[in-house]
Amino acid sequence: MTSLNDATSDQRTAIVTGAASGIGRAIAQRFATEGMAVVCADLNAAGAVKLAADLSAAGHRALGIAVEVTDEASVAAMAARALEWTGRIDTAVANAGVMVEGDILSISLAEWNRALQINATGAFLTARAVLPHLLASPAGTLVFTASTVGLVGMKGTAAYSASKGAVVALTRQLAADFASRGVRVNAVAPGAIRTPLSESQFRARAADDAEFESLLQQVIGRYPISRWGTPKEIAEIVLFLASDRSSWMTGQIIPVDGGLLELR
Ligand code: NAI
Repeated sequence: MTSLNDATSDQRTAIVTGAASGIGRAIAQRFATEGMAVVCADLNAAGAVKLAADLSAAGHRALGIAVEVTDEASVAAMAARALEWTGRIDTAVANAGVMVEGDILSISLAEWNRALQINATGAFLTARAVLPHLLASPAGTLVFTASTVGLVGMKGTAAYSASKGAVVALTRQLAADFASRGVRVNAVAPGAIRTPLSESQFRARAADDAEFESLLQQVIGRYPISRWGTPKEIAEIVLFLASDRSSWMTGQIIPVDGGLLELR
């Protein structure tokens, strides 16, 4: 196993938001098996605590805590708890997010605000709380979970796309501000990944199980690698961006999308 701890002999500490489910859970698991101390943070506190307990039982170092990424005090408390735990924060993954479906004529202002609050403001608050500590790390890294819809237009996701577009711009902007100060900032832009988020999106559209399965199949038809992606396939790239293996990369938005964006 390659260790992340190339720049220091000490174990690095990572915070992952949205760690109780889907992509965030896979990232936390992958970081833990790589040898990092992992703070699993989620609005679903029970899910975060359960994941940390499972990781600890498997011999890893993990802490499960509650966070509401739209609440500045809650995000500050998350960073403070991580520091209290290991005395350092080397990596943070701002991954917590929600899907808000609909074109601009069908969504309400409340739905627009919800997407922007959780996906964009949540990423901003997470970044701002951890950056002072990433600056103190020998090799601080910040990774955002953006989306392919933050990079290209796709029907029916006005608020979600705008929120992920903000994450893409924030990634580049923070990378510019912190590149010379030793903190690298990158993002992963997943295509369709089977998780509770994407499944609930299609459940809501389908009248029954058969239509649900049919909608899932239709998604596959758009992908050159003709299947859904898995959370593990995203976690692998996030690990790369978080580690010294990507040491000359910053400001990059990496699509992990079965060829969707490039092979049309
Ligand atoms: P998921 O629904 O399985 O997991 C999201 C997690 O975020 C949940 O555990 C939830 O409790 C947590 N969360 C939601 N709001 C929160 C808040 N306000 N504060 C703290 N935690 C909160 O979703 P999934 O699919 O794992 O998504 C993770 C990220 O990946 C999101 O940012 C999503 O937009 C992004 N993404 C997902 C894609 C997919 O196809 N599943 C594709 C592209 C991007």
